[in-house]
Amino acid sequence: MWERFTARAGRSAPTALDPLLRREIRRSFNAASHDEEHFPSTIDPRILHVQVLLKFFGNLTDKSVLDVGCGKGRFARVLLEENSGVKVSGLDISEEMLACVPAGIYRVAGMMTELPFAASAFDCVYATESLEHAVEIDRAVAEMCRVLKPGGKLVIIDKNAEHWGRFKTPAWERWFERRELEKLLERDCSSVRSEFLSYWEDVAPDGLFLVWFAQK
Ligand SMILES: C[S@@+](CC[C@H](N)C(=O)[O-])C[C@H]1O[C@@H](n2cnc3c(N)ncnc32)[C@H](O)[C@@H]1O
Repeated sequence: MWERFTARAGRSAPTALDPLLRREIRRSFNAASHDEEHFPSTIDPRILHVQVLLKFFGNLTDKSVLDVGCGKGRFARVLLEENSGVKVSGLDISEEMLACVPAGIYRVAGMMTELPFAASAFDCVYATESLEHAVEIDRAVAEMCRVLKPGGKLVIIDKNAEHWGRFKTPAWERWFERRELEKLLERDCSSVRSEFLSYWEDVAPDGLFLVWFAQK
């Protein structure tokens, strides 16, 4: 069973996301949870999207990590397997996605624009291809920074606005300019950078994916 908005301490004001749109996004991802081809439960840990997280976070023994918009927990699963003593939490708007998250990961149903966690609750926070669905992007980034401890590390992997139109996307989806997210992260984090990201080490990035790194 997962938690629903239980850890209320330190929560910020409620999200302004329209309730009908919120319901539509949840419904859409609940349905997508049955599409294993496009929303897989696992990821090859050699893929650079995983490797950049592992490398930047470093040793996670006794650390607490939050996967924001975790889906079926494919990244959280690797973090758990690669680090003994880590406490990994996965938050998602879709209960049906969360139902696929493996045991050992603390599952939380909620919105990335009103994270149900106290300020400074996590050593590391990351969001892979989920911020693009947040609608209130500014607020979701502020929330991720809020729940990060001082000195904590944050990674966002998402798509580059310059490639917008490459795939069919739902009406609420947004992709990002490098500087756009860097500026949002710089409000709360001291060290912010971004780079292009490929899937494989021996393949040059095609510009679709970007990774943003920040330290609070
Ligand atoms: C493309 S999937 C990515 C899932 C996962 N991060 C991964 O890489 O496998 C986007 C995820 O974001 C979740 N999501 C969308 N909007 C959300 C919101 N406002 N708050 C929390 N999760 C959200 C969806 O339910 C979905 O699981």
